[in-house]
Amino acid sequence: MTSPTFAAIAFSGSLRNGSSNTALVRLAQRIAPPELTIEIIDWVDQLPWMNPDLETDPPEIVLRWWAALRGADALIIGMPEYNATPTALAKNAIDWATRPPSDRAIAGTAVAFLSAAGRSGGKNSQESVTLLLGFMGATVVEEPQVRLSLVGDRIDADGNTDDPLIIDAVAAKLRALVDALTLRAATPGA
Ligand SMILES: Cc1cc2nc3c(=O)[nH]c(=O)nc-3n(C[C@H](O)[C@H](O)[C@H](O)COP(=O)(O)O)c2cc1C
Repeated sequence: MTSPTFAAIAFSGSLRNGSSNTALVRLAQRIAPPELTIEIIDWVDQLPWMNPDLETDPPEIVLRWWAALRGADALIIGMPEYNATPTALAKNAIDWATRPPSDRAIAGTAVAFLSAAGRSGGKNSQESVTLLLGFMGATVVEEPQVRLSLVGDRIDADGNTDDPLIIDAVAAKLRALVDALTLRAATPGA
């Protein structure tokens, strides 16, 4: 029996050249298990600031974001932490993903965070949206956590690293994501 295959999209919540979170997303794409394809979305910074006025006639890029979410089984977020919260970039993309209220684009999507941050490792930024995403109909695959502290000198901007701790952490997360998607696919009515 062939395994089901799943499609994930991924974005980084950091715009910084040399971003460790962008690096984690790129690493994830490179080491994804055969059951998972990962498309990196590098245009979430072009989404307008969330403004409900725009929802009457959503801009093309918003429609594109919603279509990408609806076409994916999973969303992987390279999730930095600024002042104990997601970056404005990540929060804005998430806010749009929770719209429109009648048919939320994020609903039914499995979400996985990969974080590289300062001392917190991204704990606060991840936790601040985990519950909310559940309310919006997404399923956050929380374990195993990828919350890496101060790894900037251990992974380059393209996600190249020879640090087994980083590689193993990302690989374990992707495995857990595939397992969650496989379980859901095998669950009638899910
Ligand atoms: C404005 C600002 C606030 C930050 N606040 C936190 C924080 O609350 N907790 C933390 O662990 N790191 C914090 N950091 C450190 C970043 O998470 C760290 O620089 C991380 O590498 C940024 O992600 P990037 O490498 O993908 O750009 C902050 C950095 C900036 C610039």
